[in-house]
Amino acid sequence: MKAPKGKSSESLPRTRSGVAAGSREDFPSANKALLRFMTCGSVDDGKSTLVGRLLHDCGEIADDHLAALAADSAKHGTRGGEADFALLFDGLAAEREQGITIDVAYRYFGTRNRRFIIADTPGHEQYTCNMVTAASNADAALLVLDARKGLLAQTHRHLVLCHLMGVKTIILAVNKMDLTGYDAARFGEIERAFRQTCDGLGITKPVVIPVEATTGGNVVARARAMPWYAGQTVIEALEAIAPDAAAESAGFCLPVQWVCRPDAAFRGYAGGVIGGTLRAGAAIRVLPSGQRSEIARITSQAGDLAEIAAGNAAMVTLTGEIDITRGDVIVAADADIECSDQIAADIVAFPGSGLVPGRSYILQSGPQRIPATISRLRHRLNVETLEEEPARRLDVNEIGHAQLTLARPLVFRPYASSRALGGFILIDRETGATVGAGVVRFSLRRAANLRWQEFDVTSAARAGMKHQTPFCLWLTGLSGAGKSTIANLVERRLAALGKHTYCLDGDNVRHGLNRDLGFSEADRVENIRRVTEVARLMLDAGLIVLVSFISPFRAERDVARERIGAGFVEIHVDAPLALCESRDTKGLYAKARAGQLKNFTGIDQPYEAPLAPDFVIDGAASDPAAEVDRLVAKLVALGLLSPGS
Ligand code: ADX
Repeated sequence: MKAPKGKSSESLPRTRSGVAAGSREDFPSANKALLRFMTCGSVDDGKSTLVGRLLHDCGEIADDHLAALAADSAKHGTRGGEADFALLFDGLAAEREQGITIDVAYRYFGTRNRRFIIADTPGHEQYTCNMVTAASNADAALLVLDARKGLLAQTHRHLVLCHLMGVKTIILAVNKMDLTGYDAARFGEIERAFRQTCDGLGITKPVVIPVEATTGGNVVARARAMPWYAGQTVIEALEAIAPDAAAESAGFCLPVQWVCRPDAAFRGYAGGVIGGTLRAGAAIRVLPSGQRSEIARITSQAGDLAEIAAGNAAMVTLTGEIDITRGDVIVAADADIECSDQIAADIVAFPGSGLVPGRSYILQSGPQRIPATISRLRHRLNVETLEEEPARRLDVNEIGHAQLTLARPLVFRPYASSRALGGFILIDRETGATVGAGVVRFSLRRAANLRWQEFDVTSAARAGMKHQTPFCLWLTGLSGAGKSTIANLVERRLAALGKHTYCLDGDNVRHGLNRDLGFSEADRVENIRRVTEVARLMLDAGLIVLVSFISPFRAERDVARERIGAGFVEIHVDAPLALCESRDTKGLYAKARAGQLKNFTGIDQPYEAPLAPDFVIDGAASDPAAEVDRLVAKLVALGLLSPGS
C-alpha cells in the first residue's frame, strides 16, 4: 500500500538543531488532507516499535534502511534476529544518549488517502515541555501503553496534557497484547478504565485498539491472533479523523514580530498571519492601543501582493502615522479578539523550580512578552482522579487553574477558539528558562473597572512638605546578619537630620498585615509582594522607607526594584552563615538545626545573595556605625540626601 510520491514545496518543520529528524526526501503528495498527530508513551511501552511498524507497513521505509535494520537487529535487536523497529525509529534515543537537546522529532508519511506528520516526543516526565509543544500543534494523539502494565500515572498525565492543549482525537494503542496471551478480558479492563477517564475530561469517542507492534498486529494489518477485536486498526483510526476545518475563523490577525524601518519613508510590520486572509485596503485595529488604520501595502520580494492567507509570513505598511512596536497585534477591524491584563488560564509547571503564586514571570505569547504573576492559584488537578485539589504552588508537571495578572494587556483569544492566540509560555526572569506553559480560558476583565485615582495633593507635594526625596533602602540578608541593627542606626541618623522615615521590619509586618503567611517559598514570595506594595504607598506618601526583610529570592527583589523604580537601593547586609548562627539572637538556628523549625533560610531553604547590590554592608563588622557612615555617604553620592548630611 505504498503511497504515490510527489515532491512537495512546503517546508519541513525543523527540530531546534535544524535537522528534521527521521524525515525523508520524498514526501507524500500535497493534495491530500494533512493530519498532524503526536505519539505519547515510552520506549518501554513499544512506542518506537509501533511508529516503526506503522511506517514500514505503509511502505515508507526505503530498502537500504531495511537492509541496515536487518544488520542492526541481528547485532543489537531484542527480537531474536528479526527486524527490531525500535532500533530504526527511536529517533530521540541518539539525542538522549549524547545528552544533547531533546526536541520533537517529526516524521512524514502517507497512505492512499492521507498525509501525516508524526510529532514524536520523549515520554519521560522531564520532557513535558516537548510534549506540550507537540500537543499544541497536533490534531490527534496516539498514546501507547504496555497491556501488562495498564494505565499508569504517566498515561493519565499524557492524556490530560493532550486534552489541555486542545488535541481533539485520542487513540490508545494497548500494545504488547501477545504478552498477555491476547487476553480480551485484560484489554476490556484497560479500555473501560481509559474510557472512564476520557469521559471525566470530556474527551469524546476515544479509539482504543489492542496492538502487537512487534508483528504489526492491528497497526496496518488486522491481527489474526485477536479475532475478538472488530474495531479499527491504528491506520484506519488515523485515516478516519476529519481535518479540523473550523479552526481560526475570527478574522485575520498579525502579531508584529519585527518593525522594519530602513529609512524615514518606510515603516513595515512583519509577522505570521493567523486566522484569515489579510487584504490590502482592509480596515484594521492595532491592539492593545486600539488605534485604527488600514493596510496600505502587503510587500514581498516579488512585489506587492493583493492578499495573503493565514499561515504565511507577511510584511505590511499602514496608512497614516501609527505607533506600533514589536508585540503589538494588527487585527481586522471587526476581529473578535480580546485584550486584558487579568486572565484565567490552565497552566502546567515544567521541570525546574515549579510555579509559585506571587512570583513574577515573563508571559510570552507569540511576539508578546509581558511580566505576569500568578495572582491566584485556584486549584491543582489530580491527573489520576481528575479531582481539583487546593494548592499553594505547582510542582514539576503539575497542572492547575490560575488567575494571572499582567503588567500590560495581553492580546488573545481563548485557547478553545485559537491555539495561536490563546497559548503562552512562562519564562523565569532570572534564568530565561521556560518554566511553564498555559492556555488562556477567559478574560477576567477587572482592569476595565479599575482606574488609578489622581489626587490634587500629589506625591511630589507630599515629599516637598517633608523637605526630602523619598527613597527605599531595601536591606536583605540572612536572619541574624544584622539587618535590624543597621536599619535602626540608619533611621536614627535620618531622624537626626529631620527626615520622615518608616522601617518595615519582617518580624513586625508579620505581626499584622502578613500574619497569615508562613515561611514556604510561596508565602515568602507573597510576603515580599505585599511589603513591596506597602513600601510604594509609603514612598507615595513622601516617606523614606527602610525595608528590613530576609527577602531571600532574587526574583522578588528584582520585582521590588522594578515596581519601586528610581530611589530603590538594594543593600546586602552580608554576614557568613556561621556567624549568624553563632549569634542566634532568637534561638531559631538551634531550633532549625534540631529539625523543629522547617524552611529556615540558610539551613533548609536557600538564600540567594544579590548579584549586583547597590551597596554591601559588612554584617560581621565590629563597628556597625562606621558601616552606616559609609552608607550615608553613598546616599549623598546618589543624590538622595543633601551634602553635609
Ligand atoms: S522573608 O524571608 O519572608 O523575607 P521575613 O524577613 O519576613 O522573611 O521574616 C524573617 C523573620 O522571621 C526572621 O528574622 C525570624 O525571626 C523569623 N522566622 C521564623 N521562622 C523562620 C524561618 N523558617 N526562616 C526564616 N526566618 C524565620
